[in-house]
Amino acid sequence: MKFKARTHTCGELRESDIGKNVVLNGWVAIRRDLGGVIFIEMRDRYGLTQIVFEPHYNLDTHEHGKKLRSEYVISIEGKVRKRPEGTENALLTTGQIDVMVDKLIILNSSETPPFPIEDNIEASEELRLKYRYLDLRRSDMQKNLLLRHKMYLITRKYFDANNFIEVETPILLKSTPEGARDFLVPSRLHKGKFYALPQSPQQYKQILMVAGMDRYFQIVKCFRDEDLRADRQFEFTQIDVEMSFVDVEDIFKVVEGLMKVFYKEIMDYDISLPVQRLTYDEAMEKYGNDKPDLRFGLEMIALNDVFANSAFKVFKDSISNNGIVTGLLAKGCGDYTRNQLDNLTDFVKKLGAGGLIWMRVKENNLEAPIAKFLSDDEKKNLISKLGAQNGDLLFMLTGPKIKTLTLMGLLRLEMAKRMSLINENSKPALLWVTDFPLFEWNEETKKYSAMHHPFTSPRVEDIPLMDTDPGKVKARAYDLVLNGNEIAGGSIRIHDSELQSKMFKAIGINEEEAQEKFGMLLNAFKYGAPPHGGIAFGFDRLAMLFAGRHSIRDVIAFPKTSSGMSLMDDSPSLVDEAQLTELHLRVK
Ligand code: AMO
Repeated sequence: MKFKARTHTCGELRESDIGKNVVLNGWVAIRRDLGGVIFIEMRDRYGLTQIVFEPHYNLDTHEHGKKLRSEYVISIEGKVRKRPEGTENALLTTGQIDVMVDKLIILNSSETPPFPIEDNIEASEELRLKYRYLDLRRSDMQKNLLLRHKMYLITRKYFDANNFIEVETPILLKSTPEGARDFLVPSRLHKGKFYALPQSPQQYKQILMVAGMDRYFQIVKCFRDEDLRADRQFEFTQIDVEMSFVDVEDIFKVVEGLMKVFYKEIMDYDISLPVQRLTYDEAMEKYGNDKPDLRFGLEMIALNDVFANSAFKVFKDSISNNGIVTGLLAKGCGDYTRNQLDNLTDFVKKLGAGGLIWMRVKENNLEAPIAKFLSDDEKKNLISKLGAQNGDLLFMLTGPKIKTLTLMGLLRLEMAKRMSLINENSKPALLWVTDFPLFEWNEETKKYSAMHHPFTSPRVEDIPLMDTDPGKVKARAYDLVLNGNEIAGGSIRIHDSELQSKMFKAIGINEEEAQEKFGMLLNAFKYGAPPHGGIAFGFDRLAMLFAGRHSIRDVIAFPKTSSGMSLMDDSPSLVDEAQLTELHLRVK
């Protein structure tokens, strides 16, 4: 059908346009028929404009306008007028004017949409994902995609200005162990062989450093077959970065610079730099979490010194087994009822705690079932160490260190909610967590494995410990945390073959296995690898936080459901027998 190119978008017309003849193209958002006069709010990506069909103004067009229904696609020609006094709409940027329609072309009709195309709808997420093209017509979702677009631009501009070059790395590559499960792609030409989709471009970006690229970045899709959550998708986007001849501080500077620009350009907010830092050990001890939310305090306190000589068996056993006693002070919560306390006890028990010790502070003493097991000195020291006052409530947990700290960390978050300590509008809490352990002990295999990946460099001063006490070795690895979300992670890499062999030995990988799994990188390293390091941002998580959302699905145009389904194309799906045969596959 012939229609004219628009003269204006649906978000553009203002009082200064009154009297102009205009052409608008868009969708029918809202239709109201008021005693013969038809008002339509016409929508496109840029906004809404009211158009008016009046029989006295144009009888034919008015008649034609009666056919319009929600989501019809139309093109109109008309004259801009000032809205009659009292009918202005201050909520719309175009709310001072409307357009009297001279000509209407219906470009397409529409079935009744399964949910209204408006903000704050109640439709289930499944329905929204099935009809994502309708969901994405909503201004809420369009804002999110626009924000994402702006973030791509900021990212590219920033890295370009800082001498980085964007290089694309392969999507089909060798399957290597990286922490999560690989998505595999069967090869047609090479029977029985598979490519993997990249969990990240980790090895390729390191190879780009060997290739002399010096400063690399890429906005890149990564693929991990892991359990999905609000902040996890099978395919997600990273801002991937690698730099040569650098140390941790150089990487922090580049990353902090990017965060400053993001905040300035997106929120018009000046973040103060440098970003606060905590070591992994400090983060665990104070917050029971390696990505603590620092928008509120509520710090946990290690109490081993208070109970070093305790006669209370639970503490005594725990401390003598290298465990920890950790405490949390809930200010002013001394009036919690027994029911509330039982409820919190259930909360930690469900998470795996043996029990929860609680005490009310009353008349400068402690009131609790276990108080009788503690000496007067212990009670006194406990009160003073926690800074407890009458009317407060204190919690204690004890047991193996990391597990107990993690449980208390979860109780801390729960209490923060109950005490309304989290203010979504408070200033952003950015944090570097540094000095992660290099190794992780695996109880099942009775072996150490690399906590990040086996190319992560240990702290120089810890190298001797790699042979004697691997559990104590800290890595030159870091995460960037924003309001309790891990938004980026990286490390300085090993570039020296002797240290690399030591690393493989510590995690029980022999030379042959190392060649088989990491041959590409190890071979490249034989030809002059510069010292290098890098980081990768979770782009979707960043976009989610800037959009003020709680799920990355809201900032991804076509995400999977939490069970890994794409409801629009109904994938994953069965494939033809012939396709399987060609790929040398059979489904059991
Ligand atoms: P890492 O595995 O820590 O590091 O990933 C970097 C960041 O990516 C985000 N992220 C995810 N976002 C959405 N869905 C997922 N399934 C998902 N998994 C991770 C997180 C995380 O901080 N190659 C290394 C980086 C490096 O060492 O340079 C890497 O990928 O925000």
